[in-house]
Amino acid sequence: MKHRPTPPISSLVESDRVHRDVYISEDVFEQEQRRFFAATWNFVAHASQIPKAGDYVTLDLAGRPLLVVRQADGSINVFYNRCAHKGSKLYTNESGNAGKVLQCAYHAWSYRLDGKTLGIPLRQEYAESRLSQCKSGQGLTRVGAAEVYRDFVFVRLDEDGVGFKDYFGESLQWLDNMADRSPSGRLEMTGGVIRNTIRCNWKMYLENINDTVHPVSTHESAGKAAKAVWEKQPQKSSMPISVEQMLPFASGYDFFTKMDAEVYPNGHSALAVKLSTHTGYAYPQDYLDALSATHGEAHAMEVLSKAPQNSVLFPSIAVKGAPLVMRVIRPLAVDRMLIEAWSFRAEGAPELLSERAMTYNRLVFSPMSIVAHDDVHLFESVQQGLQSQGNEWVSLHRGTNGQPEQVTQTMPCKGTSELLMRNQFQAWAKYMAEPVQE
Ligand SMILES: [Fe+2]
Repeated sequence: MKHRPTPPISSLVESDRVHRDVYISEDVFEQEQRRFFAATWNFVAHASQIPKAGDYVTLDLAGRPLLVVRQADGSINVFYNRCAHKGSKLYTNESGNAGKVLQCAYHAWSYRLDGKTLGIPLRQEYAESRLSQCKSGQGLTRVGAAEVYRDFVFVRLDEDGVGFKDYFGESLQWLDNMADRSPSGRLEMTGGVIRNTIRCNWKMYLENINDTVHPVSTHESAGKAAKAVWEKQPQKSSMPISVEQMLPFASGYDFFTKMDAEVYPNGHSALAVKLSTHTGYAYPQDYLDALSATHGEAHAMEVLSKAPQNSVLFPSIAVKGAPLVMRVIRPLAVDRMLIEAWSFRAEGAPELLSERAMTYNRLVFSPMSIVAHDDVHLFESVQQGLQSQGNEWVSLHRGTNGQPEQVTQTMPCKGTSELLMRNQFQAWAKYMAEPVQE
C-alpha cells in the first residue's frame, strides 16, 4: 500500500471510535514503542520463575531486551539485557542461573548480581582512559522502576512517571484474588508456557479479552461441538474439566448480557465479576476448609465468589483467577504480536486446580484449541480488512449515550458495553502523549 501521512496521534482516539491508524500505522507503532510502553507499567516475570539467587529470565518488552535477576538477598532487579561494553545481550537463553556473577560471552566483562562491574580483562589498559566517566564504565543499566506485587514483577522503563499503585489502583485486587486462592497466598507458575504469534496489532487482542458479544458468533462451532459431545455421554454423573470449560461457549446472548463489569482509570478492567463462565466451578471441601483456616471463612468465600471472566491489567496481562491462568500480551510489529498463556499452581491447593489451569490454556488459548483459532482468524482478518478505503474509523459506540465519558475512578458498566475498550484507548491516548525520556 502507498505510504500516506498518519494523522496526529491526538486525533486518532475519539470518545466513541478510533482511527484505523492505531492498528495499522508504522509511525504510530514506532511512537507506541518509545512513549506508551516506556511510560506505562508492564509485567515482566513471576517471582516463582526465579526462586534462587542468580536465577534469571530474559524477555523483550516493546523492543527492549530485559534481564530479570534474583539477587543474593532475595530481592529482584531488572536490567537492560545489554553488556555495558559493546551492547551484546548478557544472556540469550530464555531463563537460567548465572551463579554469583553475570558475565558477557563476548569479552568476558563481568558484573555482580546487582549490576556493578566486577571484572574487565586487561583492566590496566583502561587506567588512563575516561571509561569511569562513561556510562559504559558504570555497570549494567536498570530500568526506570520495578515493583513486585504478590510475586508479579512489573517495570516502568521511564525514570520518571506514574507510580505503581497510582497506575494500577483498584485493579490490583484481581492479583490478590488469584493469589488468595492459595491457602498460603502464594502462586507458582507451572506446566510451562504456550506461545503463539498472531499477525495482528496487539490492541485487538486486549480489546477482544473484554468482548462479550463475539463468542455467540465467533465460537458458535466450538460451543456446538462441546455440547454435542456431552449430550452423547450416557453417564453424566461427573462432568470432565474440558466439558465444564467448553460448555459456556455454547451460551447465547441471554447469558452474556447478564455479565457485569468494572473499569478502572488507566485502561484496567474486570469483566463478569458476579457471573462468568467460571462461576460454576466446584471446589473440594478440604480445600474450602484449608482456605477458610488461613484466610477466615468470610474472606475465603469472597475470594471464590468473585470469578471474573477476565481482569486486564493494561496493557500487558489479563488474568483469570478461577482457572488460575494469565495471558501476557506483547507487541512485536504493527501487525504482529506475541501471546503467552501461563498456568499457576496455588500453593496448598489440590492438584485439581492446576489441572483446570493447564486444561483451560490448552483448550481455549493454545493455537491448536478449537476456541483460539477462531479468534486468531478474525484478528488477522481485521488487520487485513482495515487496509480498505472509504471508512477510516473503527466503531466503539456500543453502550454510549452520546456524551463523552472520562474514567477517573472505578466505574461499573454492563459487560456488553464497549466502555471496556474505550477505557483502554483513553489510557493509550494519555500515555502516548508523554514526552520521550532517553
Ligand atoms: Fe474469542
